[in-house]
Amino acid sequence: MPSPIHCTSSQLDLLKRPRRNRRTEATRALVQETHVSVDDLIQPLFVVDGEGPVESVQSMPGVMRYPIPALLNRCNEIIELGIRAVALFPNFGPGCKDEVGSHALVPDQLLLRAVRAVKEAFPDLLVITDVALDPYTSHGHDGVLSADGRSVDNDASVEKLAQLAVLEAEAGADWVAPSDMMDGRVLAIRRALDEAGYTETAILSYAAKFASSFYGPFREAVGSLQAAGTAHLDKRTYQMNSANPREALRDALLDEEEGADLLMVKPAGPYLDILYQLRQQTRLPVAAYQVSGEYAQIHAAAQMGWLDLKKTRDETLLSIKRAGADTILTYFAADWAADAIART
Ligand code: PBG
Repeated sequence: MPSPIHCTSSQLDLLKRPRRNRRTEATRALVQETHVSVDDLIQPLFVVDGEGPVESVQSMPGVMRYPIPALLNRCNEIIELGIRAVALFPNFGPGCKDEVGSHALVPDQLLLRAVRAVKEAFPDLLVITDVALDPYTSHGHDGVLSADGRSVDNDASVEKLAQLAVLEAEAGADWVAPSDMMDGRVLAIRRALDEAGYTETAILSYAAKFASSFYGPFREAVGSLQAAGTAHLDKRTYQMNSANPREALRDALLDEEEGADLLMVKPAGPYLDILYQLRQQTRLPVAAYQVSGEYAQIHAAAQMGWLDLKKTRDETLLSIKRAGADTILTYFAADWAADAIART
């Protein structure tokens, strides 16, 4: 009698074979659970003053600092790639920096001019601005220092940040993004925006921002590292401790209570657990910032021939999405979008 089960001697008696769902390109596409779309991506861009040439950021291959005319060209390219949002970061020379970041509140300072120019040229492009004092302070901290100079004075900083947010809204920013990590700044910014009539301006709060070594290349890009005159700018009295997920979630959820419209986790890749947990605990959209160091390390390894640039890039973005990000700030946005178009 032949056996009713047609099996060779080496065939396992398995009812469930998960590999069936991974067998062909078509199967894999049909069962794919997570997708990255150009609608998820926000392109950060660095801006410099003057009419000079575009400058490259040494530690971030392919990333530039754009004078305003070149910034407009770049925004045009970005829009053509289907990207809907940019986050602008200004780089100021030492002449614009002082102890208290006075230049932040100068009405025609570079960032505000850049926002105006971009919104005038491209009204539908969503523009996000950072609310923090680090581009404007000589010490590179995100706020003003306390009397003993050892820490950042929370309440004095919040007052200035709220004023900066109003100037940014006035210039046309769609979302203001406090990245300073002071207590109570979201509430103060919301009240200041509303009082000034900017009820439509949204707050993308850097809700869980960790004191991270992954910001190094960004600090080169905006010049806050040189400003500090040290190799390591210590922001641990306000940015979060990488070891503390409960503290991070508590602080992030306070931003929701204070009126934030979106909550952000930063960096992204090394903090996917925080992103995942925050996604479970809030009904607000959640953003993730794949920061400069995450970008730089992939490029560096690719330059060495140790990693495949595009595959590694795509895997990191997919992982950030899978962990729960609704939107991702990434320096890879335009490159990713260009490759997505080339694939179709
Ligand atoms: C500063 C700010 C930082 C980043 C965004 N806003 C750096 C810092 O806190 O020193 C980092 C972004 C990146 O590394 O890509 N307010």
